[in-house]
Amino acid sequence: MTQTEVPIDVELRGLYKAHYRFQFLSAGFQLGLFALVEKEPGLAVREIAARLDLKEQPTRILLLGCTVFGLLRKDGEGYHTTPLSKPLTANFDEAPASNIPWEQHGIYRAMAWFCESLKEDTNLGLRREIPGTAPTLYGRLAENPELETTFHTMMSSVSRLVGAELREKLDLSGCGHLLDIGGGTAINAANLADRWPDLRITIADLPSVATAANEKIGKLGLADRVRAVSLDAFHDEFPTGCDGVLFAHFLEIWSSERIRELLAKAARALPPGGRIYVVTPRQDDDGTGPERAAMLSAYFHTIASGEGMVYTGAEYEQWFRAVGFEHTGRLPLGADTVVITGRKA
Ligand SMILES: C[S@@+](CC[C@H](N)C(=O)[O-])C[C@H]1O[C@@H](n2cnc3c(N)ncnc32)[C@H](O)[C@@H]1O
Repeated sequence: MTQTEVPIDVELRGLYKAHYRFQFLSAGFQLGLFALVEKEPGLAVREIAARLDLKEQPTRILLLGCTVFGLLRKDGEGYHTTPLSKPLTANFDEAPASNIPWEQHGIYRAMAWFCESLKEDTNLGLRREIPGTAPTLYGRLAENPELETTFHTMMSSVSRLVGAELREKLDLSGCGHLLDIGGGTAINAANLADRWPDLRITIADLPSVATAANEKIGKLGLADRVRAVSLDAFHDEFPTGCDGVLFAHFLEIWSSERIRELLAKAARALPPGGRIYVVTPRQDDDGTGPERAAMLSAYFHTIASGEGMVYTGAEYEQWFRAVGFEHTGRLPLGADTVVITGRKA
């Protein structure tokens, strides 16, 4: 073992005790501990307990863990934020902070059903832990409005992370009207409409999301060029009249059979020469990573749909060909996202 290597038992412990790390992080964040200590550096246990309205012993437990895991630094009797906790002291609707409420309330308990979900080949995590009857997360979110808001806050912040690169790299100069399937609350549409002033965009999403998207589009003053329509991508044909189709963070939710079905619908809706753009997390073609591909795949299988995973670029290119798109490129976005582009032959 070299000096820089982590001993195996320590590395393993990091894996089998990971839930403690997350709960210290989540409790500290939810209770406003990091924001408090950032605002008033050097507070001691008793002062923190009073400010957070906690008893003293629970406060000591919280501070002990946050210090152990590098979220706080203790200097004398006083506590201070660290580079790890500073990003969690403001901008709560932006990543990384926006991830914590979603991981806590949407994912944490449900992921305990991962192994059973693999065995049963379905999303038992959703079925057992998220109230409602819809078979996919997105239907069930409509049954849980507070969780739906938490999800879309997180999702928009994730899409914003690659938003600047997307607007810079995605050439929509030949596109007059883009259909954004599963476009959510208009985060990509607003970004692309701003970059391409002549572009019209139709967002198609489930009813509660389309309503929220139209509210946002109105507030942004984009209603003359961007609108959201209610559409179930599996049960409805896609509207015609567009010359580009965007699937952003959408196809990977579904099985390969359903992806081919969705791509075939896109091909039917587009004229010859029409463009297809798939924004998706990346899995390396050799199946060795990256880490985010593994985590998201587990999430799609256990919670979101019970059938999706992060696929490789090679798989998308093969599916493109099968439904009549020629593959035109792969644009990397950030560390682990890619845009796969194609044209209807
Ligand atoms: C992971 S989010 C992606 C949102 C957005 N495209 C982005 O990149 O930020 C997936 C979106 O697909 C929508 N969705 C799920 N099932 C759908 C369906 N059957 N038809 C249309 N939209 C659906 C969800 O409501 C959600 O807005």
